[in-house]
Amino acid sequence: MNSETVIRFENVTKEYKLYKNNKKRFLAIFSKKVKYKKKLAVNDVSFTIKRGEAVALFGKNGAGKSTILKMITGVTYPTSGEIEVSGRVSALLELTAGFDPELTGRENIYLKGQLYGLKDSEIAELEDEIVAFAEIDEYIDQPVRSYSSGMKARLGFAVSVNIRPEILIVDEALSVGDKNFRKKCLKKINGIIENDNVTLLFVTHSIGTAREFCNRGMVMVKGKKVFDGDIDEAIEIYNK
Ligand SMILES: Nc1ncnc2c1ncn2[C@@H]1O[C@H](COP(=O)(O)OP(=O)(O)OP(=O)(O)O)[C@@H](O)[C@H]1O
Ligand SMILES: [Mg+2]
Repeated sequence: MNSETVIRFENVTKEYKLYKNNKKRFLAIFSKKVKYKKKLAVNDVSFTIKRGEAVALFGKNGAGKSTILKMITGVTYPTSGEIEVSGRVSALLELTAGFDPELTGRENIYLKGQLYGLKDSEIAELEDEIVAFAEIDEYIDQPVRSYSSGMKARLGFAVSVNIRPEILIVDEALSVGDKNFRKKCLKKINGIIENDNVTLLFVTHSIGTAREFCNRGMVMVKGKKVFDGDIDEAIEIYNK
């Protein structure tokens, strides 16, 4: 992979198997004869993204956007094709993934930081910043199971954006917390991507936000990439 390429998809396909019910899904573990319907969530998609690019990913509900992001972060795997990713990926997808509800917020910062591949000493340097960003006050030393869902999401977001990501993956999960917190999140993302070395891949239905952050757009229709190029053209095609 070219040293400037940070994400590469080559003929990537993701097929989900849809069984009639849970029983059938279970039986399929033992028998190949159980019938299922195929769902091509991502259909033969190729692209490369270079270091420092900011790319918006458009598409209607079910077009395959989240599936692409999940394959980049390794939450799910392609059925066929090749994916290469180089650099520390921070994903604002499943913000609370990796939290242990029995540990305190502060302990979870370390847990999640380790999942991102940081050493404890590196996390210690970021700890105060993360705690301040999350704004959950004294709850930071309470077990995460005592948090509201908004508080959990805030802490997740605070960790994910403060670990100095090299590749930032954002799925419109920006509905984190209340209006003020959302504003703060957008500002933070803006600050991160001002760094020329940070790469952004952004899924959004909001044209305004996409145009603000991205100069390149990809449009997905039913699992297929139908356009990849200038952001304004992408928006035009997406709106058609
Ligand atoms: N775990 C799964 N099992 C079966 N089908 C799935 C699974 N995850 C996604 N799909 C299907 O794959 C297709 C693509 O889903 P995906 O979540 O990638 O869409 P999306 O573009 O992110 O949509 P949205 O805008 O609604 O978030 C959809 O038809 C969806 O139902
Ligand atoms: Mg989605």
